[in-house]
Amino acid sequence: MRSKGHNVTVSPHDRVLSKSELIEMGRGSDALLCLLTDKIDGEVLDGIGSQVKIVANYAVGFDNLDLAAIKQRGIIATNTPGVLTESVAEHAFSLILSIAHRIPESDRFTRAGKYHGWEPELLLGQDVSHKTIGILGLGRIGSRVAYHARGFDMRVLYYDVKRNEQFEQEMKAEFRATPEEILRESDFVSVHVPLLPTTRHLINAERLAMMKRSAYLVNTSRGPVIDEAALVEALRNGVIRGAALDVFENEPALAPGLAELENVILTPHTASATEETRAEMSRLAAENIIAFSEGKAPPNLIPLP
Ligand code: DGY
Repeated sequence: MRSKGHNVTVSPHDRVLSKSELIEMGRGSDALLCLLTDKIDGEVLDGIGSQVKIVANYAVGFDNLDLAAIKQRGIIATNTPGVLTESVAEHAFSLILSIAHRIPESDRFTRAGKYHGWEPELLLGQDVSHKTIGILGLGRIGSRVAYHARGFDMRVLYYDVKRNEQFEQEMKAEFRATPEEILRESDFVSVHVPLLPTTRHLINAERLAMMKRSAYLVNTSRGPVIDEAALVEALRNGVIRGAALDVFENEPALAPGLAELENVILTPHTASATEETRAEMSRLAAENIIAFSEGKAPPNLIPLP
């Protein structure tokens, strides 16, 4: 396909491409517009050829890019920050409300013809209002989740490597210097950290055991931040009350046992999947490439290590 003077090859996007397919599809290209499922490493870049100069990720997260390999080859990389903040924060908050009010479980129950009449203790959930939410990672999305939480009169705690006193004043939020403090004190923990070597398995068996037995864990960041096998065990054994996950450790596979649990909600990495947001992500990813091809600085450069 030709677009504004560029030749564009579009890959099938209904499945994850293998390394050899990525190389085959990308061969001869000057720019790659890739999905978060495309693992772009040195081998892929070398296979595609030395003319490739920009890798534009169609995602804000970029753990699928080997930044050192990109830098080494004199290539630049971009992402799509900002445009998906609202959508992901809305999704995270929907998960919080849905798990607390047992919405998917109640839906399954009703559709299965099990509703035989109103009962005082039928499918009792938990209020969200006035509870304590702990936000792990105070980037754009974490901050927006805090804003929604304040709308429910929640007490907001946050942990981040950087303290933000202005945010604390605006949101009446409280900083905690360690993730452990967040886990111990919160009724809902919402995870918004990027996937880095330091955040892989940030939530493991030991840290799950620090949470209140009544607490819920919500993850819309990256799956490997949570040790999913440990989470299944914790949910089975009542270590925490429930979890709602949009991302998984080995996507699209789920940890054995996860899908059988009633006290979880699982969505297929669709937190940013609204028509408005996906359109903006497409626009931004393309604009980064177009700016570069016109000799301008792409607006969303990822700092290379
Ligand atoms: C991102 O952009 O990193 C999101 O995970 C996409 O949904």
